[in-house]
Amino acid sequence: MHERFPRVAKTANATPEVAAFFDAATSTLTYVVTSPESNQCTIIDPVLDYDEASASVGTASADNVVRYVQENSLSVDYILETHVHADHLSGAHYLRRLLGGLVGIGAEITGVQSTIAEIYSDSSPLARNGSQFDVLLEDEHRLAFGSLDIRVLHVPGHTPGCVAYLIGDALFAGDTLFMPDSGTARCDFPGGDARRLYRSIQRLLGLADTTRVFVCHDYQPNGRSLQYVASIQTHRDHNIHVNQTVSEASFVTMRRQRDATLGTPKLMLPSLQVNVRGGNFPRHPITGEPILHLPVNKLGAVGTRDIEDIFPRQHERVDAMD
Ligand SMILES: [Fe+2]
Repeated sequence: MHERFPRVAKTANATPEVAAFFDAATSTLTYVVTSPESNQCTIIDPVLDYDEASASVGTASADNVVRYVQENSLSVDYILETHVHADHLSGAHYLRRLLGGLVGIGAEITGVQSTIAEIYSDSSPLARNGSQFDVLLEDEHRLAFGSLDIRVLHVPGHTPGCVAYLIGDALFAGDTLFMPDSGTARCDFPGGDARRLYRSIQRLLGLADTTRVFVCHDYQPNGRSLQYVASIQTHRDHNIHVNQTVSEASFVTMRRQRDATLGTPKLMLPSLQVNVRGGNFPRHPITGEPILHLPVNKLGAVGTRDIEDIFPRQHERVDAMD
C-alpha cells in the first residue's frame, strides 16, 4: 500500500548528476538522477522491452539501468513515473525487485485507473485506489532525496494525471514538453485536454531560466541526432508550440488539428494495462502467470461501430466441450 510522505523543507538549488538511457524502439528516455555528494539515486520512467508480434518481454533496456546503478554503487530511493505511458511498458516493477526503491506516480492515477478499467472491462479486474504503487504524489509534494528534495508538479493536459519532477536545477517534464523543435505531446488520450496542457506548460515556463528540462521522448525529427535536454529559456524562446508568442487559443486550435491526424500508438493496449499496475502484469486467474488482454473496438481506430452491432454479446459454453 502506498504511504504518504511528510513534506520536507530544503533549499534545492544544486545540480544533480543525470544519466540518460535511450530506448530506440520506443524513443523513450529513462533517467537516473544522483543526489550530489551521496550515493542515492532516483530512476525516472524506466522501460520494459516488448515485442508486439510475439507478446514477449525483455529487460535489455532496464538492465542498462541496473548495470549503471550497480557499477556506481548507487542505492535507489525512488522509481518514479511521470504518467501512465501509452507507448511503452514500464520497467518499474522489474527494477524494484532487483534494486529496491519506492515506486511513485501522480495521485490522480486513481482517476486514470478508473478510465482505463472501463476499456478493459471485466477481462482484467483492476484495483482503482493506486495500491499498485508505493507513493502517490500530489502537487507540491516534496520527497526527501539526499542533499536535495524532489518537488512534484501536477501538470495535467497530455493525461489528467501527469506530473513533472523538479530536482535541484533539473526538471523531468514527462510528455508535457518535447524538445523545442518538436513542441508538445498529444492531448487526445482519455482525459487529455489541450487547454490544461497549455496552462501546465506556462507554469513550467515560469521556473528559473537556467532550469534544465529533460524530456521523456525524442523522435529525432528530420534525422537529427538525439537530444533530450534544453533550458527553460530555450523553450520560452524557441519551442515551436509554446514559445512566448503563442496564445492559449492558438495552441488549443493547433493541438486539436494535429491530434486529429495521429493514429493509436502501437503499444497502447499492452502498455496501459501494465502501466496502471506500476509495471506489473495482469495475471491469469488460475495459473497466476502474466497475461495481456486485447479488448476489441474500444479505441476505434478502424471504425466507430459498437462491437455489439457486429458481434453481439454471448457467453461461450465450456461445459460441453468434451
Ligand atoms: Fe505519454
